[in-house]
Amino acid sequence: MRRYLRLAVLCVACGFCSLLYAFSQLAASPEEGAGGGGRPQAAETSWLAGSGRGAAGRPGSAGPGVLPGRPGRYSLKTQPIERMHLAVVACGERLEETITMLKSAIIFSIKPLQFHIFAENQLHTSFKGILDSWSLLQTFNYSLYPITFPSENAVEWKKLFKPCASQRLFLPLLLKDVDSLLYVDTDILFLRPVDDIWSLLKKFNATQIAAMAPEHEEPRIGWYNRFARHPYYGKTGVNSGVMLMNMTRMRRKYFKNDMTTVQLQWGDILMPLLKKYKLNITWGDQDLLNIIFFHNPESLYVFPCQWNYRPDHCIYGSNCKEAEEEGIFILHGNRGVYHDDKQPAFRAIYEALRNCSFEDDNIRSLLMPLELELQKTVHTYCGKIYSIFIKQLAKSVRDRYDRPSKER
Ligand SMILES: *[C@@H]1O[C@H](CO)[C@@H](O)[C@H](O)[C@H]1NC(C)=O
Ligand SMILES: *[C@@H]1O[C@H](CO)[C@@H](O)[C@H](O)[C@H]1NC(C)=O
Ligand SMILES: *[C@@H]1O[C@H](CO)[C@@H](O)[C@H](O)[C@H]1NC(C)=O
Ligand SMILES: *[C@@H]1O[C@H](CO)[C@@H](O)[C@H](O)[C@H]1NC(C)=O
Ligand SMILES: *[C@@H]1O[C@H](CO)[C@@H](O)[C@H](O)[C@H]1NC(C)=O
Repeated sequence: MRRYLRLAVLCVACGFCSLLYAFSQLAASPEEGAGGGGRPQAAETSWLAGSGRGAAGRPGSAGPGVLPGRPGRYSLKTQPIERMHLAVVACGERLEETITMLKSAIIFSIKPLQFHIFAENQLHTSFKGILDSWSLLQTFNYSLYPITFPSENAVEWKKLFKPCASQRLFLPLLLKDVDSLLYVDTDILFLRPVDDIWSLLKKFNATQIAAMAPEHEEPRIGWYNRFARHPYYGKTGVNSGVMLMNMTRMRRKYFKNDMTTVQLQWGDILMPLLKKYKLNITWGDQDLLNIIFFHNPESLYVFPCQWNYRPDHCIYGSNCKEAEEEGIFILHGNRGVYHDDKQPAFRAIYEALRNCSFEDDNIRSLLMPLELELQKTVHTYCGKIYSIFIKQLAKSVRDRYDRPSKER
């Protein structure tokens, strides 16, 4: 009898606990919605419609970085909204590619963007001309910088590093006032809102400072595990073409290393590292990042391959499972595939976004001709799985541009 009684008490206690849990979940969920992580909410979507594209007709309706008044549950009238910081380094012939990347970021993103563009001086006028012509959108602002090294040791840096290739390593030291940053190569295309990768910053645990995708999914064709003459992260290394950084943490951290027994800060580790490994590195700064995270693996958050989808994921057959299931989120056309005929599926996506304007109708009608174009690529391994190239893109277009207007 006593046993039954105890069991009954236990049951009541458990029931009470799960009830409490359910309530706490209910109470928490609206906050998550308003925070902007994860799926865009209807209320946030209406923000762009109200101040972004809509504002073209009534300039000055919203100060930069301030949410315009809007109806709905999450009205945050005067609270400054967090900007997402996006950095890119453009040298040589990369103007058109970079502009297309920036356009893809603007088209789907929800929160406002702040671009940090490091470019060779001869590209500055062109960047300024194009970006200023987009300024009516009011969903982004930008700063242009020359290729720069930290003022301490600038001369020595320049001697050792190829300036353009290594710029990204110095971002935490150059953008001292920026807390967090998404760095991308110029050959990146966003097929879903930047907000979604940005929200991964909040998933970092206490020791993580940066996030990247693996360099390879398939060790048999991996580069680092077969050829590298230096340490690298994990089984196949990491790819630095899409890199999230909590730079506050990067600037604070002391890094373990194989040069001294003392742990070194970001600004102090790069030079000795390069001196030690310069004869052994092939891919420049990406190799240095691999060495650093080899020694500090607890500091890296690894995100799946669909956030940095490269030709390597399909040219010899599909090996990015996450993309097969959910589609490609961020496309990375390295090996020059946007500009030659080797991987026409990559090129088709690039050209569709390059040709597209910011008009809603134009964006909505991007998909049909693109799909026809992709159907012509099925003779390649990447083309055979072309549906994963447009799965997320189609969803992003739907989510952003097919909603009934909230203004009515
Ligand atoms: C971009 O907007 C932010 C937030 O309003 C502001 O702090 C920053 O100075 C602006 N940057 C430029 C280059 O206008
Ligand atoms: C560079 O590579 C050579 C040949 O593989 C190796 O012997 C040497 O230890 C490497 N240097 C460093 C610093 O790892
Ligand atoms: C980055 O890290 C700092 C220090 O831990 C933290 O205060 C900040 O909120 C983080 N930034 C983001 C975007 O999570
Ligand atoms: C954070 O995650 C990394 C990778 O999973 C792990 O190595 C590290 O121990 C974690 N840190 C904490 C404080 O849990
Ligand atoms: C993009 O525009 C170029 C010329 O402006 C044209 O040749 C090409 O067919 C267009 N591509 C797509 C995919 O619309």
